[in-house]
Amino acid sequence: MNKNFYITTPIYYPSAKPHMGHAYSSIIADFFARFKRIDGFNVHFLTGTDEHGLKIQRSAEKKNIEPLLFCDEISETFRNLSSKLNLTNTDFIRTTEDRHKKSVQHLWSELEKSGDIYLSKYSGWYSVSDEAYYNEDEIEELDGEKIAKSSKSKVEWIEEESFFFKLSKWQNSLLDYYEKNPNFISPESRKNEVISFVKSGLKDLSVSRKSFSWGIKVPNNNEHIIYVWLDALTNYISALNYPDKNNDLYKEFWPATIHLIGKDILRFHAIYWPAFLMAANLPLPKKVYGHGWILSDNVKMSKSKGNILDPLEIIDNYGLDPLRYYLIKEVSFGNDGNISQERLEDCINSDLANNYGNLCQRVTAFASKNCDEKIPQDIEFIKDDKNILENYEKNLQTIREKIDNQDINFYINFIVNCLFDANKYFNDQEPWKKKDDKKRLNTIVYTTLEIVRKITYLLYPIIPSSSLKALEIFNLKESDINLSSISNHIYLKQGNKLNKVGILFKKIEKEND
Ligand code: MSP
Repeated sequence: MNKNFYITTPIYYPSAKPHMGHAYSSIIADFFARFKRIDGFNVHFLTGTDEHGLKIQRSAEKKNIEPLLFCDEISETFRNLSSKLNLTNTDFIRTTEDRHKKSVQHLWSELEKSGDIYLSKYSGWYSVSDEAYYNEDEIEELDGEKIAKSSKSKVEWIEEESFFFKLSKWQNSLLDYYEKNPNFISPESRKNEVISFVKSGLKDLSVSRKSFSWGIKVPNNNEHIIYVWLDALTNYISALNYPDKNNDLYKEFWPATIHLIGKDILRFHAIYWPAFLMAANLPLPKKVYGHGWILSDNVKMSKSKGNILDPLEIIDNYGLDPLRYYLIKEVSFGNDGNISQERLEDCINSDLANNYGNLCQRVTAFASKNCDEKIPQDIEFIKDDKNILENYEKNLQTIREKIDNQDINFYINFIVNCLFDANKYFNDQEPWKKKDDKKRLNTIVYTTLEIVRKITYLLYPIIPSSSLKALEIFNLKESDINLSSISNHIYLKQGNKLNKVGILFKKIEKEND
């Protein structure tokens, strides 16, 4: 089995500071990266910033600074966000780096060589905000202004000489590829949108601009710069040192396992990117997953509505792990999801503080008092213990399969049920009434501790720091976490010392409590 796993986030436009949508894509990618790592995979996890194009040039002009200086500053805030979110990305790419420019120019030459590039004139609608071309039927008018129907962003008419990529030539190959690789575009609902767009007929794509200069130059040409999406998409291979196909990074990680993106940029990833790769005779990524939007109070976040939830503010107020847990649990993955401060607080109180935190506290406090602060020895499992323990090994393979299908909802529901069962087991078994039957008391405590360990391993990809703190109970470290070991029911060394840990999650006092 191929044990290499390459996951990417979109590279973010450093035109404004990071918001919840960016945080969401990154947190989800980190969840998958961590999960795969504890399952023994060799993981490469890429994120970064998309720094060229008119959108960035204009943002820099507004501030009256050189585009590169402008990008340096905001790209740094994205890099900082990565560490604030505790991302385990193994690389951070900026499209203004030389390694990237070299790759993009090489890819361009490959497209030229294959006869897929020609010079003509573009006239049509363009949205600077989306850095996208739109057909006439994709445009509508609002308050006398032309906007793109899908993104509602303003479009402007452009007419200029441009190099084109023969996208139309790849229409059938793309449809064929989607059919032969039914999981390439996920989730299913989004796949249908893409297929019908391709079937409706692809026009050749304008892939260079000459009316502004902030971009990567078309090789051997002083007038044209490369279209920002062709530039940006290449980041996924420039970070693997393309065009050097013999280096370890490229050999191990291309084609990517999954490009995780928002649904709004699916067309670029599921149509343009595979067409460029086919034309350059390069393998295609295995999957493109378009997640939904994060909404606040059921509508898209916007300054004017005053419903923006700033990830950094939330982290300062509630901590990072509660935010990670909440986004992963509350937003049904693949769909749009509504988030609110109130639900976040409920989630912290019920799931994290009551169900998980309390379970850890209760069993360790009980073990300290009654088992000499040690992992109990002299145990003998009975049916009740075996039933609850075996639930983990029974589901291990399913968990892996669900994760490979990005079924995060299954994963989180499994954990929530495990927490419920664990608390119920401890209550029902009433170890406090077994003081005369030391073996039974020991077994209940051992079983509960084993369950805490297993649940904590499962929680690690979601709430890494809190999980590591909980594992201090057993003197276990990050490098000890191994998914397979949730099938082992006597993993904890009997007689080893148990450590006390502080409160894992503080309950939020709510006004109506
Ligand atoms: N630079 C391009 C991506 C190039 S990838 C080769 C871009 N950047 S972006 O900064 O505008 O958006 C990055 C990602 O954030 C997109 O996947 C987008 O879907 C996501 N989100 C932006 N707002 C969002 C929400 N409110 N909710 C969820 N994700 C959304 O597009």
